[in-house]
Amino acid sequence: MNAGTVTLPVVDTGYLESISELPTELAIRQAAPFLVRLVEDPAFFEGEIRPLLEEARGAAGDWYVARSFGGKDHIYSLQVFIWPPSSETKIHDHSSWGVYCCAVGSVLEKRYERLDDGSRLDHARLKEFRQRMWSKEDGASNVLPHDGGIHWVGNPSDEPAISVHLYGPRLGEVDGRDYDPSCDYVCDRSED
Ligand SMILES: [Fe+2]
Repeated sequence: MNAGTVTLPVVDTGYLESISELPTELAIRQAAPFLVRLVEDPAFFEGEIRPLLEEARGAAGDWYVARSFGGKDHIYSLQVFIWPPSSETKIHDHSSWGVYCCAVGSVLEKRYERLDDGSRLDHARLKEFRQRMWSKEDGASNVLPHDGGIHWVGNPSDEPAISVHLYGPRLGEVDGRDYDPSCDYVCDRSED
């Protein structure tokens, strides 16, 4: 994935830093409305989303991070994803909290819980417990770190989608974990 690290002039980075210092639940409670306001901000749309529309319309294949803006020491990471039609993630989690909101189009999210106790290395038994489409009007979805945020995200439509994601500070060495429920497998995922 090619994520150009850029500065986002309309983003209050001081506020992002203050959010990233909060306990997880409190951080998510502030991050979600922040992201909704950001996605609805005409200056953010014109500066960061509209320039990606043509690129998104021509995109095919896997999803990718088109823009990335991070605080020092992984304190937070703000990323803009492009979802070509039929693109999808693996089932995965993150080693940080996260919130995301669609700016263009919509994505389908499936959420999972673990049925095992996590005691066996590389083993995870999952159960899907929710599916939901997310569009701009639906606000922001959120995930807790690790087992609290196991999800799959994809774009099942014929139109591209663009979403904006905010991740908090990492709580572990790795980026998160990937799951394969067909063989009850889980493994660490390093940052690309
Ligand atoms: Fe995710």
